[in-house]
Amino acid sequence: MKRILVTGGLGFIGSHTVVELQNEGFEVVIIDNLSNTSIGVLDKITEITGKKPTFYQIDLRKKEEVKNFFDTNKIDGIIHFAAFKAVGESMQKPLDYYENNIGSLVYLLEEMRDRKLDYFIFSSSCTVYGQADELPITEKAPVKKAESVYGNTKQIGEEIIKDACKAYNLNSIALRYFNPIGAHPSIKIGELPIGIPQNLIPYVTQTAAGIRKELSVFGDDYDTEDGTAVRDYIHVLDLAKAHIAALKRLINKTNKENFEFFNVGTGKGSSVLDVIKTFEKITGEPLNYKIVGRREGDITAAYADTTIANKELNWKTEKTLEEALEAAWKWQQQNKS
Ligand code: UFG
Repeated sequence: MKRILVTGGLGFIGSHTVVELQNEGFEVVIIDNLSNTSIGVLDKITEITGKKPTFYQIDLRKKEEVKNFFDTNKIDGIIHFAAFKAVGESMQKPLDYYENNIGSLVYLLEEMRDRKLDYFIFSSSCTVYGQADELPITEKAPVKKAESVYGNTKQIGEEIIKDACKAYNLNSIALRYFNPIGAHPSIKIGELPIGIPQNLIPYVTQTAAGIRKELSVFGDDYDTEDGTAVRDYIHVLDLAKAHIAALKRLINKTNKENFEFFNVGTGKGSSVLDVIKTFEKITGEPLNYKIVGRREGDITAAYADTTIANKELNWKTEKTLEEALEAAWKWQQQNKS
């Protein structure tokens, strides 16, 4: 049985991936510093899977602690989620972002090299494409200059992994996520935004729950069908399964290069108004929203061409936008604050 380290394993995407790993028979060890989640998630994972993953509260910026961890734990591969992820905050605190997102990545890769570990899956983002010239976005689309420090940490992260794979003969897959949303069907784990949500779906659900007065729709003058910006919203469970598929590709040695990257989306674009309409259908209530100006740094449209990921990873999304929004809404109703 392979023993997989999941960093950031108590976060939104991490926790769903831990559940899927355990369901697939992997043994999971989680490292999380609890900077953006709570320890209660560990019990929820245990409730869902019937098995408690091993957990260490370690900050990956502490090199000695990371070393100690690997000295005392036998690990076969790593799925690396732990990172700061707020676009706006990254512009205010660039050095925190570089230290956390890049520093911890380098330390983990050093351990991979020194201990000859075989598999490394990295959380990347469609933000590396910026506003792509052609839609849907294929993996062949060029990486554009990052709009944010956060985006830059993903681009630099991929470069570092690529160089390390080449020099030390490691194997890695970066998954370029589009917009992950939703919650586990058990409604035991989901997204827990701290403070005022920056992302669309938690803002929508909090508005419907009466926690926020009204949703601001950022811009209706984009060059899209209804004027609002278009994104590819993927159910977090489908996204979690993409990690299992990527891990199996490395375990079975069916990867074609040392370092590969894949788009992980549904292939379907939805506008902000599409999301609102679908959500209103689910709740049966009108959502309180108003159109305001564009948000700085936002792109017009991004959705994935998933042909390569579907074929190479032998994976495809199974859930619809409706299912994802329904899960997000149930999750919201259960977490009143
Ligand atoms: N939006 C609103 N109102 C809100 C929040 C969002 O209208 O209150 C709109 C945005 O303008 C955008 C869409 O909803 O058009 C989606 O916004 P999100 O913030 O949910 O997602 P983004 O696509 O902006 O962000 C995602 C990831 C980031 C990544 C970024 C790169 O969450 O990790 O893409 O552009 F960096």
